[in-house]
Parts: sequence; C-alpha cells; structure tokens
Amino acid sequence: MRMVDLISKKREGLSLTRDEIQYMIKGYTDGTIPDYQMSAWAMAVFFQGLDANETSQLTMEMARSGDQVDLSGIKGIKVDKHSTGGVGDKTSLIVVPLVASVGVPVAKMSGRGLGHTGGTVDKLESIEGFKIELTKEQFFNNVNDFKMALVGQSGNLTPADKKLYGLRDVTGTVNSMPLIASSIMSKKIASGADAIVLDVKVGAGAFMKSLEDAKELAKTMVSIGNHLNRKTIAVITDMNQPLGFEIGNANEVKEAIEVLKGKGEERLTKVCLTLASYMAVAGQVYPDFNTAYKQFEEVLKSGQAVETFAKFVEAQGGDSELVTQPEKLPQSKYHINVIAEQAGYIQDINAESIGYAAMYLGAGRKTKEDQIDYAVGITLKKKVADEVSIGEVIAVIHSNNKEVQDSLDLIQQSVKISAAKVEELPIIYEVIE
Ligand code: URA
Repeated sequence: MRMVDLISKKREGLSLTRDEIQYMIKGYTDGTIPDYQMSAWAMAVFFQGLDANETSQLTMEMARSGDQVDLSGIKGIKVDKHSTGGVGDKTSLIVVPLVASVGVPVAKMSGRGLGHTGGTVDKLESIEGFKIELTKEQFFNNVNDFKMALVGQSGNLTPADKKLYGLRDVTGTVNSMPLIASSIMSKKIASGADAIVLDVKVGAGAFMKSLEDAKELAKTMVSIGNHLNRKTIAVITDMNQPLGFEIGNANEVKEAIEVLKGKGEERLTKVCLTLASYMAVAGQVYPDFNTAYKQFEEVLKSGQAVETFAKFVEAQGGDSELVTQPEKLPQSKYHINVIAEQAGYIQDINAESIGYAAMYLGAGRKTKEDQIDYAVGITLKKKVADEVSIGEVIAVIHSNNKEVQDSLDLIQQSVKISAAKVEELPIIYEVIE
C-alpha cells in the first residue's frame, strides 16, 4: 500500500477501506508516513469529507494508537461526559459529583485549557494540595468507593490524534466536521467508558458558531459512538453568553459548589441537571429523563451531591472544608467594578470576548507554557435580558495587578445594552440521540 494512492483516492471523493485507514494511522503514528502526505490527505478530507464508516474507522484507529484505558475493574455502567468547551463552563465540576452521588460511576480524564479560561484540570488545581495524578489503584478504588475520580489525561492517549490535530492547526484543516468529530471521539473511546454524554456548545463563545454546524457535529459524534457500541447522546447548549456568573478558575470552583448546594444560577443549573439526567439514564440508574431530572432537583436540595464533591476533593489531596469555607480558595488582591454606562436591558454579553478579558487577567493561557493565576477572573452581575440602571455594577474584575484597562475595555465592549426589552436566550437547543 502507498500513502500517495490513498491521498489520490480521497481527492477523487472515493472512500478508504478499513485496512487503508489502519495503514495510514499506523504509519503516521510511527513516523513512516510524513507530515506532508498526511496534510495533503487532511486537505482532501476537508473538501471531500468522510462517510460514516470511514469516520468511525478513523476514530477507532486513533483511539488504538496509544494507551487504551481498561475500566473493567470498576463495577457498573461507566458513563463519561465531554463538553466542546466554552467560557465559564464548569459543568464537569458539578455534573460528575451529581451523578456519582446517585451511583453512576464516572472515571474521568480531563484536559487543560488553551486560550480563554482554564480547563477542568486547571480549575481543580486551584484547590491547594489537589492531585490530578492518581495511581491506577487509587483511581479505581475511588470510583468503586464513592463513584468518581477525575484525573489529567494520560500522556500517551491517542498520539495519532495529537499529531494530526497539531498538523491540522497549521495547514488550515481544523474546520472539517468528520476530522473534529473523530478527534474528540477518539479520546473518549480510548478513555474506556461504556456510554458518553456530549455537551455541544453553540454560539459566540463556542467552537461551533451556528446551530446548523453544532447539529452536524453532534450528529456525527453520536453516529461514531453508536457505530462503536458506546451509547452516545449529545445535548446542544447555549454559549452566546458565558455560562453562570463566574469566569476564572478558583471562582468557577466556588460557583460549582453553590450549584451543588442547590443555590446556583438558573441556566447553569439547568444545563447541569440536563446532562446529569441523560448520564443517569445511560447508566441505568433512572428509567427516563423526566424521572431523573426530578430526582436530581431533590438531590441538589438534600446536600448529597456536595457531600460527594467534598469526598472527592479530600480523596485527591485537597481540603474539603472549602465546601463550607470558599475563602480557602485563592483570592485576588484587587476587585474592580465594571459600571453600566447606560440604562436599559442587557442585549448581549459576548462570551468569546469575556473569555479573552479573563485570559488577559491571567485566568487562561496564550501559549502552552503560560502559568495560570488561579485567583483571577470575572464575576458577572447581569445576564442577557436583565434590566440595568446607569451606574450599576455589571461585572467585577478580580486581579492581582492594579492595571486592568485592557480587560475593562473589553468587558465594556462585550456587554451591549438596549433601551428595549430583550428576550432571554434559550439554554438547551436540541438533544441528539
Ligand atoms: N477539539 C478536539 O479535540 N479536536 C478537534 O479537532 C477540535 C476540537
């Protein structure tokens, strides 16, 4: 077999066989197929696409290219979740303890963030002493004991995807639906769960800007999962404005705890309850979505979920007292108010710009090497459709530097105020099963 023939075949819009995809991914991973041939193939895929079979085969081969986590030592149906990412997205910190508290085992690997704010692992590391690495035995024991563990992604998970994603990034081929879907799903498949719930974000602060694109991505990922015998459900949720009130790392942990106590912001709570309900149904703990949703509303009121979160923090080396004493989380030196310059109704809070404003403060990374400042971030005091009077505080900047003009200007520009009443944005757009 020769790579040049596979590139030509794809260029002509023909489908590659399983053996051909296997040959290509194996060769690219071990270095016998060079970057220039792989990028020509990626560009051919960009224009010609992949059929459902090719997409599943590509996903499977990338999942097999490195470590594959064997979760058979954990009892029950293991359910994973994944978010395509957004600003203020702390859903894993809430949903995982929520479903664990009713008996759904979650053995989760999460990544760090690049750009905008940090990833789940960065947020957890804002807790002093918290360890994102566990031995295999600790990882399994924690999930068997209280149904959850959350660690950083293994260094050798899906090396083929790591290489190909890096290549796509510099060859104008990131934006291909089957390549995005197979990239995300290969990591989920290699992580070993039996069922997967995907939170596909749509809007200004998301990877997918239009509902049409989000639906296509969701459908492609669900089809891959089902093809590979993993029950997969995708929930399309709003990311036009940031999720919840807090953007940053320590302050997002604080907000997650509030939601787990049943005192969280309404839209964030709704997304979490929805994701948790689909996970619990997939894990066969509840018979249907409506029963699960009602049960989880009760769980939030009962304190059961926050108790699981406290156990999880303690088991991974952190101080569980932060659940009742959030001031134990890192605090910034300065708190600067952002004031409304006109009266009316909040029309837009551009999530992407707010993400950049938080990154300028040090809450996210511009490059992989950047250090995150866990204490800094932004607290929104208003959401879209809220009424606002002139001079009212619309956001608070938490900073360790007195000079925050760049972030302040960006927040002012991202928040649009209209004189006329504004409708609330939807929060859940669609569910694809
Ligand atoms: N996230 C991924 O993991 N892969 C992509 O291709 C795009 C987003």
